[in-house]
Amino acid sequence: MDQIRSLKARMERLERLRSEKALAEERLKKEESFLSSVFFSIQDGISVLDKDMNIVLVNPTMEHWYSHAMPLVGKKCYTAYHSRRTPCEVCPTRRTLREGGAARQIVPRRGTGGKITGWLDLYSFPLIDAKTKKIIGAIEYVRDITDKRIAEAKIKELLMRLVAVIEHIDEGITLTDSQGHFVIYNSKMGDLTGYSVEEANSFKDFMIKLIPDTEGRDKVRESAEKALENGGVHESEVLIKAKDGTEKTLLISNSLTRHSDEKMLLSVYRDISRYKELDRLKDDFISMVSHELRTPLSIIKEGINIIIDEIPGKINEQQVKILASAKANVERLSRIINDLLDISKIEAGRLDISREKTSLEGLIKQVLGYFENKIKGKGLATGTNFPKEGSDVYADAERITQVVTNLLDNAVKFTDKGRIDITIRRSGRMIECAISDTGIGISRENLPKLFTKFQQFERARRPGDRGTGLGLSIAKKIVEMHGGKIWVESDSGKGTKVTFTLPRSS
Ligand SMILES: Nc1ncnc2c1ncn2[C@@H]1O[C@H](COP(=O)(O)OP(=O)(O)O)[C@@H](O)[C@H]1O
Ligand SMILES: [Mg+2]
Repeated sequence: MDQIRSLKARMERLERLRSEKALAEERLKKEESFLSSVFFSIQDGISVLDKDMNIVLVNPTMEHWYSHAMPLVGKKCYTAYHSRRTPCEVCPTRRTLREGGAARQIVPRRGTGGKITGWLDLYSFPLIDAKTKKIIGAIEYVRDITDKRIAEAKIKELLMRLVAVIEHIDEGITLTDSQGHFVIYNSKMGDLTGYSVEEANSFKDFMIKLIPDTEGRDKVRESAEKALENGGVHESEVLIKAKDGTEKTLLISNSLTRHSDEKMLLSVYRDISRYKELDRLKDDFISMVSHELRTPLSIIKEGINIIIDEIPGKINEQQVKILASAKANVERLSRIINDLLDISKIEAGRLDISREKTSLEGLIKQVLGYFENKIKGKGLATGTNFPKEGSDVYADAERITQVVTNLLDNAVKFTDKGRIDITIRRSGRMIECAISDTGIGISRENLPKLFTKFQQFERARRPGDRGTGLGLSIAKKIVEMHGGKIWVESDSGKGTKVTFTLPRSS
């Protein structure tokens, strides 16, 4: 009985062992097929060598790369892969076979006749016998890095070109990191400042060294901060002192560039000293010429007036006509000179305005009176609409008279029939004044150019009417100096409405 029981137990154990073996075999099979599918489908090359560098196994990628040297198995690796009769001097696999460790090397990929067709990143690992622990061969794992290499070479070339451009450009260029360190500082920057990049980076704050005056420094800092915070290009004009003590006016444009997470400041420095000097010379020249012309001109005008008034003796009608035309032209010339003087003063920042409480209504009535004859002569109607509560503005009466005179002059000049209306109204803390006419209007395409210097779109026929094209630019500058705005609504044939605002005097 016992014998039967033990026999049964043995049979059961045998049965268990058999099924365990079957399971293990199946697992092994699965692992094998998994490994072989990896081996066959992988896009990198795999080549197994024995310890004498004979190829014993390759995957399809390897066969594809070295199709000209097929069959690969059985050949020496240096023969199949490098068309050589002896091992290569720099071979990571040789090292692995000798020393046992993993090795890596970038090697050329060679086609027919040993010609280089690309680049491979070769990793070699030792194959070790599980029992004897001896090196029995090596596995080469090979990645094609040809495209990567080409891309890298292209980037490198692009970078070299960029550096060459930055170096040869005629403007100073710097790139500053968040610690205030110059990452880029081109040679023109060295020429401009006299400081090398090493020197510039050695100062705690280069700007203190470069810009002696605190106000200028603040301006540059502010523009840099704005660029870093809001993006966009921020310019500032500043006087610098170069290492050798010479002073230069630079126009610095700051903008933001991002490098991964770091915000960097890109700055371009243009030397505008010469341009500033020329500009100053031009202003001086215009104001000198204008002043010099004024005196003789007023003498001529006075002379003409005396003759027209027949003080020295009677003149005939034809002489009156000729003199009237001469007078109109002299007046035009003096208008041009005055406009030129004004614009050069404004541009040089030398136009001063002295503000006081002024009645805009009173001022407009006065200018209207001055144009009365002209308006009547053209048969135009006028209308005014002034607020009951008054229209006191805080302004320079003389300069605002000049603005209104020009606007009315334009309205009269460019209107042949219809009317001219002037409206004043309160608008918050400002007083708004609109002068509208039913004249020829201004075309849509010309509208944006209106406040640009010397722009004239419709040439008036009579010589006395011809202007300088400076009136509106002067008016804009004057209004803006008062903290107001000026704008135009118009279209061809539809009349024109010019509106400006001035701060209310409270
Ligand atoms: N009210 C208006 N109607 C039509 N065109 C106008 C009017 N005001 C200005 N313009 C156009 O704008 C130009 C510039 O005006 P302005 O600067 O005052 O110069 P100017 O009066 O010396 O010509 C004028 O020559 C004219 O073409
Ligand atoms: Mg004008």
